Amino acid sequence: MRRLFVAGNWKMNTTMASAQALASEVAAEVARSQPNVDVAVCPPFPYLIPVGISLANSPVMLGGQNAHYEKPGAFTGETSLEMLVDVGCRLVVIGHSERRQFFGETDELVNKKIHAAWQRGLDVIFCIGEVLQDREANRTESVLSTQLQGGLAGVEAAQLGKLVIAYEPVWAIGTGLTASPEQAEATHLFVRNWLATRFDRASADAMRIQYGGSVKADNAKELLSQPNVDGALVGGASLKSDQFLGIIRAAAELSAG
Ligand code: PGA
Repeated sequence: MRRLFVAGNWKMNTTMASAQALASEVAAEVARSQPNVDVAVCPPFPYLIPVGISLANSPVMLGGQNAHYEKPGAFTGETSLEMLVDVGCRLVVIGHSERRQFFGETDELVNKKIHAAWQRGLDVIFCIGEVLQDREANRTESVLSTQLQGGLAGVEAAQLGKLVIAYEPVWAIGTGLTASPEQAEATHLFVRNWLATRFDRASADAMRIQYGGSVKADNAKELLSQPNVDGALVGGASLKSDQFLGIIRAAAELSAG
């Protein structure tokens, strides 16, 4: 069975004090309950170091929300993948819909970032998802195919162990609207079958596909119990320790069988 993976994307939120408090609460509860799931938090860049300190010796992984693909150099305002590694990140989120929507990230740019992240030894959470008009016009599968094709250009099956896909319907992000468990499952199955065609069945079956979009403690179990939903990428609810820990608990209960 694929190990469930719950990751918190804090986006442009928290203060240094609240970030550290949140990380400490998550680390303490994960240390106490030892859930049989992977857990990560992705704070804003300025708080990576203090949050890393709060997570010291914890299995909770530290991740970046984005990075530039270039080597360190003259790129004012950017953060390199080397820097993420240097401050203790194990993974990086790439291609989040907010990056695509507000910062013009294209599939081609996302693809460069994915390859660059692997070169630096980071794992990647690669986000894909359709906007509401696409879903309503029955274009979800073609949109996801284009994002997968472009984002994974030049990728080989042997590299997929360092990749997690996050399916995040854009209309469900931060809106309180969630894909129904059936919608999520059908879309995750489509993504897995796409991967099997592009790579091979065994690699596709081993890949973790997280769901993201208004996941909360009270809907996590239903979503995560779907056979092709292998975890959650959580925004708003990852900012409240009781909510985030509730999602981890739901995943742990499912993993315990
Ligand atoms: P949300 O965000 O949980 O607040 O909907 C999810 C995400 O953007 O990763």
